[in-house]
Amino acid sequence: MTEKDDDMEIMEQERQKPRERHFRQKTEEQADISAERTEVKEPFNPLIEVVNYNFFYGATQALFDVDLTMPEKQVTAIIGPSGCGKSTLLRSINRMNDLLDNAYHRGDIRIREQSIYDAGLEVTELRKRIGMVFQKSNPFPKTIYENVVYSLRVAGQNNKTVLNEAVERSLKAAALWDEAKDRLDESALSLSGGQMQRLCIARAVANRPEILLMDEPCSALDPIATAKIEELMYQLKKDYTIVIVTHNMQQAARVADHTAFFYMGRLIEFGETKKMFMSPDKKQTEEYITGRFG
Ligand SMILES: Nc1ncnc2c1ncn2[C@@H]1O[C@H](COP(=O)(O)OP(=O)(O)OP(=O)(O)O)[C@@H](O)[C@H]1O
Ligand SMILES: [Mg+2]
Repeated sequence: MTEKDDDMEIMEQERQKPRERHFRQKTEEQADISAERTEVKEPFNPLIEVVNYNFFYGATQALFDVDLTMPEKQVTAIIGPSGCGKSTLLRSINRMNDLLDNAYHRGDIRIREQSIYDAGLEVTELRKRIGMVFQKSNPFPKTIYENVVYSLRVAGQNNKTVLNEAVERSLKAAALWDEAKDRLDESALSLSGGQMQRLCIARAVANRPEILLMDEPCSALDPIATAKIEELMYQLKKDYTIVIVTHNMQQAARVADHTAFFYMGRLIEFGETKKMFMSPDKKQTEEYITGRFG
């Protein structure tokens, strides 16, 4: 996270082209570091492909002709004004929208080149591969332990060694182990808001999904809890592909490798986050990220 902040700062300094010599030297040194990082950047391996996707809630069309490819083991941020279809897209990826009456889609979403609507793909299997974290943390009224192992229990796993391993691994992955390890049998509802949200992340990764969908996961959290979750995303992307919806531009700039800007159900622009924030191609994107509308 801090490294990303540094990068943004470097880009900003580059852009402003400071005139004073010692400033220029510093910027050049930093630019070198930034160039090194650019070289080691992970390749863009397509994982989630949204293809000419349209989504309808009855007569209301929420998404229009969306084409968007999201890379594996990176963070993609979805940004845009309220009502532009961000949550609709996220809920389409794990087919949660299927649960609604009158809702339907046109087009396709593919994960590892397989359509999520493929007749051979069970929705329950799909959802096992995709963890989801919502804006408001939603722990079950059970112990911390039982919250984490919930999906394993549902899958019929009752082996204590396996469950214990999953609890420790997931709570560590969610940066909650140290705070929770001595109170695993306490109710999850006794945790603070930020801890509950990290518990929900632990629950979402317990079954080792490939993809983590996060819909405004930090909007109800204070800056310290937010910083922890952002740091966590930075760690988690080593193992997971993360798609995060956020209203917080700084957060998108800090955590996301790529950013997709939506407006009124359409994808306006998609690209590397730094490029999007420094020199967006579209005027609408620039107006949104600089706070002139939305
Ligand atoms: N269950 C639903 N039934 C009918 N219309 C819906 C439903 N959910 C969303 N919509 C409509 O679809 C459009 C997109 O909504 P969506 O929730 O995807 O927006 P969003 O970008 O996530 O907004 P926000 O930032 O406020 O969360 C909106 O016009 C919304 O009113
Ligand atoms: Mg939403």
